[in-house]
Amino acid sequence: MSGGSNPKDFISIADWPRDAIERMLARAHELKELRKRRECFRSLEGRSILLYFEKPSLRTLVSFEVGVAELGAHPVYLPPTQVKIGERESLEDVARNLSRWCHAIVARTYEHQLVLDLAREGTVPVINALTDYLHPCQAMADALTVAEFGDRGRDRVVYVGDGNNVAHSLIHIAGRLGMRLTVCTPRDYRPDPRVLSWGAEMARREGGDLRLESDPQTAVKDAAFVYTDVWTSMGQEAEAEERRRVFASYQVNMSLLSAAPSDVRILHCGPAHRGEEITAEVLESPRSLVVDQAENRLHAQKAILEALLAGA
Ligand code: NVA
Repeated sequence: MSGGSNPKDFISIADWPRDAIERMLARAHELKELRKRRECFRSLEGRSILLYFEKPSLRTLVSFEVGVAELGAHPVYLPPTQVKIGERESLEDVARNLSRWCHAIVARTYEHQLVLDLAREGTVPVINALTDYLHPCQAMADALTVAEFGDRGRDRVVYVGDGNNVAHSLIHIAGRLGMRLTVCTPRDYRPDPRVLSWGAEMARREGGDLRLESDPQTAVKDAAFVYTDVWTSMGQEAEAEERRRVFASYQVNMSLLSAAPSDVRILHCGPAHRGEEITAEVLESPRSLVVDQAENRLHAQKAILEALLAGA
């Protein structure tokens, strides 16, 4: 985010004040309840929202498109096969043109800098729908899920796997909301040290707790939630074999869960690779919340859109 108390975009949860995040999460919960009663809240009637996705997407693309429509706005999907930003036209020209027609831009890109540049050059809010560095909308859905199935202020979330975009945004939201988080990765795959030191500082300030571990068995001992993500993120395919080797002992399987409390719940942002970072047995077990977590993307993103566009 750039722009203080009147944010123009939603680049990183790290820049949002705690009360703004809590308000969005409360609204997400409310929107979820309204939807159960088939009451759609058309708060963004007449707006158009641009969806630019360079990387593949199931959950993010569909939940944004459905969410935009349910809020009474119009989604415009722009695939990179039509316009690859920076190739057919400069980023500046694309951002300025889009800002004249659309009320917000939702962008999933390889390079994080591209989303920052869109926000700088455009005049409408830019929502990060995943970059190589961050996945903030996922983290909002994660916080919503933890509150729904546990106690967000007390329960420990233990993230096991790669210190990637999902881990970064999880550290951001846990820091802001004073959550208890353990990040367990191989030593060479830890999250960005800048994100870790920010997370540690925020934990001190907001009453949370951020731990760094490298042994999964130790990490999950006091887990209320065990969270994992793919070992090979989009764009890292050439490293897949090496990563399978490095992360082999980080698989979330029944043996690892036997070291965790018996009522531990399982989170995964998807897409899940059964037999790699998580076994089918764990994914399909009653402990798994992954489909609830995916549903919450919809409610969280609707709340984000409303927060950014109400009154715009
Ligand atoms: N870390 C994964 C998340 C996918 C939603 C990736 O970037 O591919």
